Amino acid sequence: MKDDILKVLITEEEIATKVKQLGKTISKDYEDKNLLLVSVLKGSVLFMADLMRAIDIHARVDFMSVSSYGSGVKTSGVVKIVKDLDINLAGYDVLIVEDILDSGLTLQYLKEVLLQRKPNSLKIATLLDKPERRMVDLKADYACFTVPDEFVVGYGLDFAEKYRNLPYVGVLKPEIYTK
Ligand code: PRP
Ligand code: MN
Ligand code: MG
Repeated sequence: MKDDILKVLITEEEIATKVKQLGKTISKDYEDKNLLLVSVLKGSVLFMADLMRAIDIHARVDFMSVSSYGSGVKTSGVVKIVKDLDINLAGYDVLIVEDILDSGLTLQYLKEVLLQRKPNSLKIATLLDKPERRMVDLKADYACFTVPDEFVVGYGLDFAEKYRNLPYVGVLKPEIYTK
């Protein structure tokens, strides 16, 4: 698997440090609120697991699965809800936890859908932000790292469902996704 990686972009240590910092910030910002972390599967699985442990106030968690890339490298533009939330959002300060804000189509759609459910508030936390590729006007409220327009995998991010289990974020060799 490691042979498919061109270079490591963000190390395990860098991720751990930033995620702990973000956990502290969120703990402060949501101290008097009713925090519900909404993890967007599958990509956010590792970020969610680490971030929730770095938060030291009451927090509920729920999971939602959406997909727009399938096995390809390009967004289909159509976001599909594969699994919906269990918790009713009314009364909660919802924080969406995502692995990457890329074209922005996934989060724009998700924001719209979740706002209709009338939460107290709705914000976005993303591990990675790739602003160069944005197709809609959307910003994250919390972002750990800004990444260049390269094909990144690892720490939850996949190519054709692979590489999610890499503990770091790396750039995939172009010959892997162009063949
Ligand atoms: C990826 C990634 C984000 C989204 C970002 O999910 O995990 O959720 O795409 O891209 P966008 O900003 O261009 O919409 P994907 O659809 O690949 O599903 P996955 O999380 O199960 O891999
Ligand atoms: Mn995703
Ligand atoms: Mg994917």
